[in-house]
Amino acid sequence: MPAIVLRQVTKRFAGGPPAVRDLDLTIPDASFTTLLGPSGCGKTTTLRMIAGLELPTDGEIDIGERNVFSLAQGRSLAPAKRGLGLVFQSYALWPHLSVRQNIAFGLEVQKVNRAETKRRVEAVAESLQIDAYLERYTSELSGGQQQRVAIARVLVMRPDVLLLDEPLSNLDAKLRMDMRAELKRLHAETGATVIYVTHDQLEALTMSTHIALMRDGVLQQFAPPLELYAQPANRFAADFLGNPRINLLEGVVEAGAIVSHGLRVQVGGDGVLAARPGERLTIGLRAEELRLEREGGSGRAAVRILSVLPTGADWYYRVGLGDAVLTVRDDRHPDLREGEQVWLVAAPNPLKVFDEAGRSRTALSGRDAPAAAAQAPGPAPIERRESEREEARA
Ligand SMILES: Nc1ncnc2c1ncn2[C@@H]1O[C@H](COP(=O)(O)OP(=O)(O)OP(=O)(O)O)[C@@H](O)[C@H]1O
Ligand SMILES: [Mg+2]
Repeated sequence: MPAIVLRQVTKRFAGGPPAVRDLDLTIPDASFTTLLGPSGCGKTTTLRMIAGLELPTDGEIDIGERNVFSLAQGRSLAPAKRGLGLVFQSYALWPHLSVRQNIAFGLEVQKVNRAETKRRVEAVAESLQIDAYLERYTSELSGGQQQRVAIARVLVMRPDVLLLDEPLSNLDAKLRMDMRAELKRLHAETGATVIYVTHDQLEALTMSTHIALMRDGVLQQFAPPLELYAQPANRFAADFLGNPRINLLEGVVEAGAIVSHGLRVQVGGDGVLAARPGERLTIGLRAEELRLEREGGSGRAAVRILSVLPTGADWYYRVGLGDAVLTVRDDRHPDLREGEQVWLVAAPNPLKVFDEAGRSRTALSGRDAPAAAAQAPGPAPIERRESEREEARA
């Protein structure tokens, strides 16, 4: 099962900033790698360049042992010769064929015998919960059912490399959860290299072995999901991953701690120790790294409860600390009420601290990741491209 290597890959479309910039990325063999980031950050463009549907403006791409694109050597292998299975954001099924015929199509082209075809089609249809519709025309299916037929059609071919662009976008919450689990299971079972595109951070966290987080065409961090969550390389990564959003609190370095409105967070570890007293830094505190106490004490800060937000499984609180509003998860105080004053304790593990340029001062990985300042998110969403419908058949 091949690794996929992108070296200094750039894509410029006429008249805009680069859609993808100097992308260096090694997608490990047999990994489930997710390209994650806000709308317009270059995920689909990256996937299309790997597939050969879009020509990079610069750089090189290898799939396994083979170089499939090199600007310097003038090489670009046709999509069909790259040995990939593709499911795109918008997909096209054959409307005049049944679900069974749609899924079986590729196997028939490859002259797989009838018994084997039947077995494989039915197995994949069952795993994607579309076995009840096998004899229907695809035009008689809902959007979510059609989307699963599109996935089945590719999975049935058992490709070594599978490229999936938001393949679950049309499904309801429950089915989406089922399908995430199913795709994860299929990945483990087949050992294929999967490249998965989504802008849904929860989907990325739950499914992937690796996440490549992008912003404005630039790779921000490449790491396993829990590492990305625990040790974001910059402020953007910290803010993009996690629900509820991470609390970002400005503070000042004072005698071995970062202090903000009376809340003291002890600092240790090499990165932060280098901080100068008086330096302004931003601490990232996830809701589960904060807790509320009824008693004051050293390092604790007075906060007021603004709202109590039980979710059934967890208790969340919005609390006011000076002019900042933070989200806290703490399940020990079901009796706390809005308006009460309590004390906030921060126990970040690991510590997440960002400098004024947005760079992490503590992340172990991605130290050289680009700064991501705290400004507005990326560009507005784009229209879905109709041309993808045709190309998805390639
Ligand atoms: N064919 C094209 N011509 C011109 N610009 C394009 C073209 N395709 C993409 N772009 C631009 O390149 C950037 C990246 O687009 P891309 O489709 O890769 O984003 P994405 O991360 O997949 O977003 P989404 O989550 O909305 O699908 C966008 O700014 C987009 O407008
Ligand atoms: Mg896209």
